[in-house]
Amino acid sequence: MTVPIAIIMGSNSDWPTMKHSADVLDELGVKYATKIISAHRTPDRLVNFAKNAQSDGYKVIIAGAGGAAHLPGMVASMTHLPVLGVPIESKALSGMDSLLSIAQMPGGIPVGTLAIGKAGAKNAGILSASILSVSDKEIEQSLVSWRKAQSNSVKEFPEG
Ligand code: RP5
Repeated sequence: MTVPIAIIMGSNSDWPTMKHSADVLDELGVKYATKIISAHRTPDRLVNFAKNAQSDGYKVIIAGAGGAAHLPGMVASMTHLPVLGVPIESKALSGMDSLLSIAQMPGGIPVGTLAIGKAGAKNAGILSASILSVSDKEIEQSLVSWRKAQSNSVKEFPEG
C-alpha cells in the first residue's frame, strides 16, 4: 500500500520528537510511513530512499535530524518532492546547530524548515497535510475541521 507522507529521522533518539508529526497526522486521518535514515551512518539507505521516494508513492517528506543535520538537505538534493525539515533539539546546542544546518540550504535546493523540536514536528505534520489538501478534498475537509476544533478549544478568558 502506498502512503502519501514519509516521516524519516536520523536516529531512533529523534522519534520522541518526530512522533508529534505522526500524532497530528493520525488526528487528521492522513496516512504515513516512518523510517530511520541517517545521512552519516546509513548513506546507502538515504540514497535508496530519496531516489525512489516518488515512485514509492510519497508526495511529501518530513525529515527530522539533529546536530550536523544533513538528512533533509541531502534528501532534497535527490528528489523534487517537497521536503519539510524538523530541527531536533540537540543537547549540546539546544537545536540551534540543527536549525542552521537545515535552514541554510544553498539556492536551488529548498528545504521548508520548521521550528526546533516538538512544535516544529507537529507543524510539519499539519503543513504536510496542508500541501496534500490542495489536491485532496477529504484531507482539506479534515484539516479545516481540525483547525476549527483547535480554535474552539481556546478559552476566551483565563481561569484557575
Ligand atoms: C543525528 O544525530 C540524529 O538526527 C540525531 O538527532 C543525532 C544524534 O543521534 P544519536 O547519537 O542519538 O543516534 O544524526
